[in-house]
Amino acid sequence: MGRRNVRIRNMTHGDLDGVCGIEEETFPAPWPRESFASDIDKGHRSLCLVAEERGEILGFLISWPVADELHIGNLAVAAGCWDRGVGTELLRTALEEAVDGGAAIATLEVRASNARAIALYERHGFRPVAVRKGYYADNGEDAVVMLADLRGDDGA
Ligand SMILES: CC(C)(COP(=O)(O)OP(=O)(O)OC[C@H]1O[C@@H](n2cnc3c(N)ncnc32)[C@H](O)[C@@H]1OP(=O)(O)O)[C@@H](O)C(=O)NCCC(=O)NCCS
Repeated sequence: MGRRNVRIRNMTHGDLDGVCGIEEETFPAPWPRESFASDIDKGHRSLCLVAEERGEILGFLISWPVADELHIGNLAVAAGCWDRGVGTELLRTALEEAVDGGAAIATLEVRASNARAIALYERHGFRPVAVRKGYYADNGEDAVVMLADLRGDDGA
């Protein structure tokens, strides 16, 4: 399976069923639908993307441009669609749009045990810069804070 038919575009309210379905099957403490809806309504204060293939939502990314920083708040791909480059395309598109909008850095938090996601972020130039102890309420897991310098040439 390739990524040929996968399209990355801005999230709309019509995507919420697909997005929330992935969110609920992916995370132990899923974001409520209203929080995605309010991000869609934030206009230029949020950058919300979906990956779509023939009308089906395969994944999404939520991020917030703040001053010269893009903070990535959420990224997930439907479990049946992993390893097809969908996560890579979502992240690449968000970082490209952030650079076009003048962002200098991108930041995110990720569970310390999430090797897949950490590897994906490292391929896009993110480096660990801090640990937030006990950040995740469901199991007390630490968050690794990662930062990418978007002005550099280290893959971002
Ligand atoms: C992290 C996630 C978004 C990646 O999405 P994806 O579409 O599978 O990502 P891609 O296919 O673009 O890339 C996956 C890469 O990880 C590699 N990979 C697979 N298993 C891995 C592992 N255990 N450790 C490190 N890398 C791994 C794959 O080989 C692939 O590499 P490639 O691009 O060189 O082929 C997806 O796994 C997901 O939704 N996970 C659950 C939610 C989550 O963790 N979100 C991030 C929270 S911060």
